[in-house]
Amino acid sequence: MRILTGIQPSGKLHLGNYFGAMKPAIELGSKGDAFIFIAQYHALTTVHDAAALRQATLDVALDFLACGLDPERICLFRQGDVPEVHELAWFLSVVTPMGLLERCHSYKDKLARGIPASHGLFAYPVLMAADILAYTSDVVPVGRDQKQHVEVTRDIAAKFNQTFGEEVFRLPEPMISESVAVIPGLDGQKMSKSYNNTLELFAPIKELKAKIMRIATDSTPLEDPKNPDTCRVFALYSLFATDEERAAMRANYLGGNYGYGTAKKALLEIYERTFEPFRRRREELLGNLDYVEQVLRRGGEKARAEAVKTLDRARRAAGIV
Ligand code: ADP
Ligand code: TRP
Repeated sequence: MRILTGIQPSGKLHLGNYFGAMKPAIELGSKGDAFIFIAQYHALTTVHDAAALRQATLDVALDFLACGLDPERICLFRQGDVPEVHELAWFLSVVTPMGLLERCHSYKDKLARGIPASHGLFAYPVLMAADILAYTSDVVPVGRDQKQHVEVTRDIAAKFNQTFGEEVFRLPEPMISESVAVIPGLDGQKMSKSYNNTLELFAPIKELKAKIMRIATDSTPLEDPKNPDTCRVFALYSLFATDEERAAMRANYLGGNYGYGTAKKALLEIYERTFEPFRRRREELLGNLDYVEQVLRRGGEKARAEAVKTLDRARRAAGIV
């Protein structure tokens, strides 16, 4: 079973990315044949600053490696190292009905957020389909917001196969990790770079502390019982905690005489404890960027060899040899 997922280098990765996408992908990837790539061309639909894109690309690679991605088991690569994907995207785009793209929520959401409409933004799902199909992926772990794009990929792949009368593309399945659902941000909305409500994975501890201490809580007096199920601090703590730790904090909330300040300290502490080995590993990697480059380049070569095979099938099927 081949697993593939991509993540855009469009800003610093945060806890929502970690628990919603990185951790499940790393765990799942360690079990099978997995590809994880840095979607530079997707980020280019919104990031128009070369230095920022370069930095964010490196940061995503460092973050994944620091958080436990083993490059011997998971192929980590940059989208930019596989130019075949763009030719493939053209093959797909000639069989993609306009209406299919017009219905994409993500496009409409981006326009609503004030991102100017560009052809790239509109055609984004076709490039994503090319990414997925290039590596004959079976399963694509993504957040809920990306599920529709995987469904679009299936539609486009089926249309191409049907049009040219050959099974050129394998149809992928989206995989949504229901257990992690949506990680709340500091303000209670979905944690997202676009909402300025994140806890960045590798922010300095001082900054994390300040942000955690500012999380709004209700005004229940210290002595009274508190509801863990409506509290953001408890929700964030639960992501890190073992079942016993979570049950203990729940009991503290319900028992009264337990303040939000204490819960926030516990959150900071468990965050620091969990990320301490990742931070150390990230520091080591920063001192060995040649190694990181080598991992990405080797990953790119492996991925490219797969994409070349798929592109060759598409070219033949469409009559371009
Ligand atoms: P952002 O909303 O910060 O721009 P992206 O859209 O780049 O994040 O998401 C990258 C990956 O991380 C996707 O698979 C997405 O579903 C996941 N993800 C992002 N934010 C969250 C969240 N708050 N909870 C769960 N998963 C998330
Ligand atoms: N669109 C995805 C996101 O914003 C990133 C992405 C690009 C992707 N190509 C992909 C994810 C292929 C999975 C498979 O999160």
